[in-house]
Amino acid sequence: MLDRQAQIEFILDHYENPRNRGRLDDADVIMKGGNPGCGDVVTFYLKVDPEAGRVVDVKWEGEGCTISQAAASLASEMVQGMTLEQVKALKADDLIDTLGREVVTARLRCATLGIHTAKAAVRKYEVERLLAQIEAERVPDVEGQDLGLEFEAVEE
Ligand code: FES
Repeated sequence: MLDRQAQIEFILDHYENPRNRGRLDDADVIMKGGNPGCGDVVTFYLKVDPEAGRVVDVKWEGEGCTISQAAASLASEMVQGMTLEQVKALKADDLIDTLGREVVTARLRCATLGIHTAKAAVRKYEVERLLAQIEAERVPDVEGQDLGLEFEAVEE
């Protein structure tokens, strides 16, 4: 486990050299997350392989404090290549332990903004995919179509 100084350096390295920072123009899902306490935001872009159910590319961008931006960088590294199930099962604690619990404990909302947004992006992707499937399987509008039904005239 890193000592306190090493944890601070780890956070500063992610802040100064953010991993996966940027936009994904062909993202399958874009999710914006915000910290209501301060107004800081991060946006995650995920590219998903639907067959494998796996995140194949991830980018993020945002504005905020050192911890929120460093933690978003780390969160993007964590979800890269994960299956959707693995992302959903990720615990904020996993990220907090990597950042250094002692260092970020007073700033948990900052530290977890990125990972919560990445997890929300996966849920949004799944909901949108489900809605698209329902839409594709919807019974077409039958008005004006010949349904092949025959009716016998009933004489009164
Ligand atoms: Fe806004 Fe940290 S102060 S996310």
